[in-house]
Amino acid sequence: MTTMLARHDSPVGRWLRQAVPLGIRRRLAAAHGRRRWLPARYRGAMALLADFAERDPNGFHRFLWSRHLAYADTYEIARRYGPENLHPSRLMFFADLERVLRNRGVEPSTGVASVFEVGCSLGYLLRHAETRVFPAARRLEGNDIDAYAVDEGRRHLAGLGSRVRLHVADMAQLGELLRGQRFDVVFCAGVLMYVDEPEAGRVVGALLRHSGLVTAFAGLAHPQRDNAELGAPAVRPRDGAFIHNIDRLVEHAGGTVVYRRWEGALDVRGNTIYFVFAEPGHAGHEAKGRAR
Ligand SMILES: C[S@@+](CC[C@H](N)C(=O)[O-])C[C@H]1O[C@@H](n2cnc3c(N)ncnc32)[C@H](O)[C@@H]1O
Repeated sequence: MTTMLARHDSPVGRWLRQAVPLGIRRRLAAAHGRRRWLPARYRGAMALLADFAERDPNGFHRFLWSRHLAYADTYEIARRYGPENLHPSRLMFFADLERVLRNRGVEPSTGVASVFEVGCSLGYLLRHAETRVFPAARRLEGNDIDAYAVDEGRRHLAGLGSRVRLHVADMAQLGELLRGQRFDVVFCAGVLMYVDEPEAGRVVGALLRHSGLVTAFAGLAHPQRDNAELGAPAVRPRDGAFIHNIDRLVEHAGGTVVYRRWEGALDVRGNTIYFVFAEPGHAGHEAKGRAR
């Protein structure tokens, strides 16, 4: 039994997984997850679906996010919008992104006209980008598989008079969604971890093809080894999310890592720090290893 299954196991969970077909358990998990007043919804969903997570991690994560279940619980307007709610790891990410742009001769506040975010949820990072980081940008768009989050985000953004546009789409469909388009900056934070390496590699390739200046990634950091040294992805025990070597995915897709940051076991309010900034072409490296 893997760590993830063991973590969420219980005699009831074990019995349900043996006695009840997966299709019915999926419906149960969805119904259970929608009852906000129920305690231990996250644990319940994981226990009901632990075998699904083992067998088909991509399908499992898609199932939970697309139904706004389990770890999606905290993605609500009141908890995510506004400077006071912006996660400090994302502020670090934007600060590095601005530095990378300046080092390439682009002033973020005036020189970035278009931005795309993969896995944008409610659109709060795009709104931050619009108001604080890239105020000159006229096109700010994002996609997410979570239709609930996108609908809530659209309503909220309309009330703010924002230019940000959100699409409901799986990242596997980015090629179609972005066909014929290029954005100066494309970013993807905390999202590749929900698909395995072959699929993450395809997404990285699509993003590099559709970005003009910089493609930026934030992934899960391996706590002991620099992710750039990982031969194969590791798995986070808590939820089965993948710890990727994004440096390698970028290089395999023909991009060039121009700046990176791996902070190992550092815990920034529950998030780890592993950022990779890439150009579609082949410029020289600015930094390798641990950034200080
Ligand atoms: C951990 S949240 C990160 C949200 C935001 N990018 C941030 O950094 O705060 C992961 C997001 O990825 C989205 N996501 C997961 N799998 C996806 C997929 N296959 N296609 C598109 N979005 C996906 C989820 O719905 C969720 O909004």
